[in-house]
Amino acid sequence: MSLSPVPGHKDGADVAARVEWRWAMLVVSIIAVLVAMVIFIGLHWAMMPPSRVETVNPTTLHIAGEFIESNLGSAVEPDGSVTVRMIGQQYSFTPQCILVPAGTPITFRATSADDVHGLLITNTNVNSMLVPGYVSTFKTTFDKPGDHLMPCHEYCGVGHEGMWANVKVIDKASFFRMASNSRRLSCVK
Ligand code: CUA
Repeated sequence: MSLSPVPGHKDGADVAARVEWRWAMLVVSIIAVLVAMVIFIGLHWAMMPPSRVETVNPTTLHIAGEFIESNLGSAVEPDGSVTVRMIGQQYSFTPQCILVPAGTPITFRATSADDVHGLLITNTNVNSMLVPGYVSTFKTTFDKPGDHLMPCHEYCGVGHEGMWANVKVIDKASFFRMASNSRRLSCVK
């Protein structure tokens, strides 16, 4: 027995196919836009994808390597930018006072010696975690001189609420004058 054709049935199938095709193209273009954003950000802003990890042995930070105490603090790079190296540990940051110039690209490189700590600089976009075994890297530029607090914002034990440091932003000329006399700068008194 043959089914009698439903009026408009063929049109309905066509409409469904067209709508499906349109949604499929929409999904494909969203994915294409996201991939293009990742490529643009990676190449133009030199940002690493989240899969990038840089590891460090947390048990030997104080013995050798980039995070040895004499290498912590602010250092001027050949291109005129500044790199700040620091570590967090229960329950303080080293250096306890970070000195940086205003209007200069700053790269922070930091890690933890023991537990997960938080690194947040008030009134800036700097907000990261310090995870033992990994190096946290982020870049920022401070617009103007001023003082910022840098509290640990990741619960790291009984002394958590007492774990914080200061960030002192000074004018560029004074900073570079001081930097010409010293390999590593901080404002620890
Ligand atoms: Cu360190 Cu909370």
